[in-house]
Amino acid sequence: MQDTERAGERELTYRVVAMPADTNAYGDIFGGWLMSQVDIAGSILAIREAEGRVATVAVKEFRFLAPVAVGDLISCYAEIRRVGQTSITVHVIAEACRQLEANCVKTVADATLVYVALGDDGRPRPLNDTA
Ligand SMILES: CC(C)(COP(=O)(O)OP(=O)(O)OC[C@H]1O[C@@H](n2cnc3c(N)ncnc32)[C@H](O)[C@@H]1OP(=O)(O)O)[C@@H](O)C(=O)NCCC(=O)NCCS
Repeated sequence: MQDTERAGERELTYRVVAMPADTNAYGDIFGGWLMSQVDIAGSILAIREAEGRVATVAVKEFRFLAPVAVGDLISCYAEIRRVGQTSITVHVIAEACRQLEANCVKTVADATLVYVALGDDGRPRPLNDTA
């Protein structure tokens, strides 16, 4: 199978509220917490494309564009950018909505992540093989 570049549709794959347990010692939301949510959001498309188990093999770029506050509703929009022999590259945008503000949506992060389809042995699986 040949690698294919994709300009697919961006879709809402994951929503979550930032909670006090997700803060650091200064009361700010952890960057690592947001990275984890973005990884989950991207993996949802990768699992669907792979029709089975995947693992994150690389985070090609991750930008934190604005801070996240406790209580923000985070919405992650994902889009498949490339499908290789065993890998799927997904671009994710995370938006935050400060629920009490009128014009609340702000882009807080974007990232490109690479997932690999895995077989039962935990090794890369060609994407045209089912798990
Ligand atoms: C995922 C894993 C099985 C891949 O094994 P590997 O021996 O590196 O596999 P390969 O070298 O054959 O690469 C597999 C695919 O990943 C891609 N890939 C590997 N490293 C990459 C990187 N740094 N950036 C982008 N793509 C990468 C390869 O290009 C290949 O894609 P293709 O088949 O579409 O051409 C192995 O690296 C692994 O188990 N990593 C840990 C994954 C994990 O646990 N993630 C969660 C962390 S908590």
